[in-house]
Amino acid sequence: MNARPVAVITGASRGIGRAIATALAREGFDIAAIARTVDSEAMESLAPEVNNLGSHFFPIGLDISHTERHAEVISLIQERYGRIDFLVNNAGVAPLHRSDILEMTEESYDMVTGVNLRGPVFFAQKVAREMIWLKGQYPDMRPAMVFITSISASLSSTNRGEYCISKAGLSLATTIFADRLAREGINVYEVRPGITRTDMTARVVEKYDKLIAQGLVPQGRWAMPEDIAKGVASIAGGDWEFSTGMVFEISGGMNIRSL
Ligand SMILES: NC(=O)c1ccc[n+]([C@@H]2O[C@H](COP(=O)([O-])OP(=O)(O)OC[C@H]3O[C@@H](n4cnc5c(N)ncnc54)[C@H](OP(=O)(O)O)[C@@H]3O)[C@@H](O)[C@H]2O)c1
Repeated sequence: MNARPVAVITGASRGIGRAIATALAREGFDIAAIARTVDSEAMESLAPEVNNLGSHFFPIGLDISHTERHAEVISLIQERYGRIDFLVNNAGVAPLHRSDILEMTEESYDMVTGVNLRGPVFFAQKVAREMIWLKGQYPDMRPAMVFITSISASLSSTNRGEYCISKAGLSLATTIFADRLAREGINVYEVRPGITRTDMTARVVEKYDKLIAQGLVPQGRWAMPEDIAKGVASIAGGDWEFSTGMVFEISGGMNIRSL
């Protein structure tokens, strides 16, 4: 078995997942980094960043919606390290086009829910089985997992309903996994980012700049990927050991309802 703990992060090449990869490397994890494209410039530039923090880096190409490849990828990680201590279900996509719920297409709905909900649910299911087996071998292990959802899990955006639906579903999936895995000694958490500066939001920067200036975010700025990564690193470090099923919203106060 690998001497150091191992974190598996989906969507690790860019944005929030990338910040999580470096934050967890700093915490002493070796990193199995999953992205759609294994040889992208982003993935290739992440390897030295993680290595410079003293961690081993294992890049893996997997479209998370391709559930038929999950078992093979988990076997690859197990062959390499013999352990999985922490899973971050982070890979996600926006709808191809923002369109009113009355115009939403089945194609866009299937694509978004396939990547954001169906894929992560079945990937987490298989990793959970692996973690249960590992705990049987090594009872001192404290495996855990995190689902990256969104403030959209509980907010309505009429022009990207399929995204909100996928994140609301993933939020409940987190609760169900937390409930089932508590008896196995495996903790499960939900992290809900707010409006975060990444490639995903690159096309709507002007819109959100304006809304933030008008007060949409009580703390008055965009979330940066590092804000989300800090929260995930705190969970991975064991600070929330007695709080399985907890929802951590990292949104600069968008959770506040005010009158
Ligand atoms: N940005 C925000 O404002 C925001 C707010 C709330 C929640 N979130 C959530 O946070 C997560 C990360 O978002 P982000 O803003 O960091 O996105 P991003 O910058 O667009 O990066 C997306 C990452 O996910 C990977 N990915 C995309 N589709 C994939 C697939 N089918 N299979 C495997 N990997 C895939 C990409 O890999 P490639 O490089 O190979 O394409 C990339 O590493 C998502 O779940 C998103 O819904 C984002």
